[in-house]
Amino acid sequence: MNIFHIVGARPNFMKVAPVLNALKERENVAQTLIHTGQHYDLNMSDVFFQQLGIPEPDVNLAVGSGTHAKQTADIMIRLEPVVVERQPDIALVYGDVNSAVATALVCAKLGVQIGHVEAGLRSFDRTMPEEINRLVTDQLADLLFTPSEDGDKNLRREGIPAEKIFRVGNVMIDSLVRLLPAARKTRTDDLPERYALVTLHRPANVDESATLKGILESLLEVNRDLVVVFPAHPRTRKRIADFGLDAGQLRMLDPLPYVDFLGLQSRATVVITDSGGIQEETTYLGVPCLTVRENTERPITVSIGTNVLVGRDREKLRREMSRVLDGKAKKGAMPPLWDGQAGERIADILSESSGRGISGD
Ligand code: UD1
Repeated sequence: MNIFHIVGARPNFMKVAPVLNALKERENVAQTLIHTGQHYDLNMSDVFFQQLGIPEPDVNLAVGSGTHAKQTADIMIRLEPVVVERQPDIALVYGDVNSAVATALVCAKLGVQIGHVEAGLRSFDRTMPEEINRLVTDQLADLLFTPSEDGDKNLRREGIPAEKIFRVGNVMIDSLVRLLPAARKTRTDDLPERYALVTLHRPANVDESATLKGILESLLEVNRDLVVVFPAHPRTRKRIADFGLDAGQLRMLDPLPYVDFLGLQSRATVVITDSGGIQEETTYLGVPCLTVRENTERPITVSIGTNVLVGRDREKLRREMSRVLDGKAKKGAMPPLWDGQAGERIADILSESSGRGISGD
């Protein structure tokens, strides 16, 4: 069986690593890794490949940044001839990024099977570009690997047949489980024992001056009680500069490598974020997470885990912060199938479906 893996952006890399590893051990499997180049900075891409032990991509489409239409179209145009030439039996896509939807569109029209890892997540907020990507990718996919029961329910409601849906658990947690021991050994200089770790990059939070200014003011307020450490996504750093905003005493850092960031997360007093994956990682780690969004496509982190949605409600952030400072933050539990074995389950399903005819041989 000839399997393509298509990745492009930072949150894809910790998801592809366990699947690549699990499939490496299987018989009659050839794997091709394609990097679309959606993320291209050393600290947004290369360092993740190194730390996660991902091999060099076989193909790099080097599309770079652009508007959504341009980036998605560039990936499609550059990927199509590679798929035509190499004829994969199945293309695996990861998460909700532009690289996933672009690949799904190309492969569906070439009659190549698509497997979607992290299928079925829904924020029900179509102003998020990722929600559009999720909806389209899931409609086109042949094998839908879901992390949790809510994913299965969302897909069934959208008319996806049950036989296409496979609940495999959370593949990103596989990487966390593997690298947490190394992460715990990392140290960041000059950091106090207690600190708040912040990440922000959602267009809805950072692309408008007044919104970003309000969030920075809230963070400066948090910083009076707890040192705020803020490794900033390039988009966010650029917006802060473009809008002439002041991050004051916040400890701004460049984006961190996977293991270093995981170390910081595991020791944080609280994490404040608008990321999807970090809502899950904090739940695994048992660290309180305050999410600067009105909704989440990962509701299990709220119902079972340590996540609280604070949106952009300053009062709510203040309230939740005082609970954290008083030692009364929400205590979470571990969701089912967050056991480090999701990649193996995906490999099992692919091996079985190869026997049933996905393979071209
Ligand atoms: C993408 C994903 C988002 C994910 C995020 C994680 C989509 C629709 N969005 O958003 O779901 O949470 O990645 O980081 O796919 N830039 C650089 N260097 C890079 C990459 C980006 O400087 O290596 C800058 C560019 O100015 C670019 C901007 O960041 O325009 C945004 O990058 P882009 O890939 O368009 O989307 P993200 O915001 O990173």
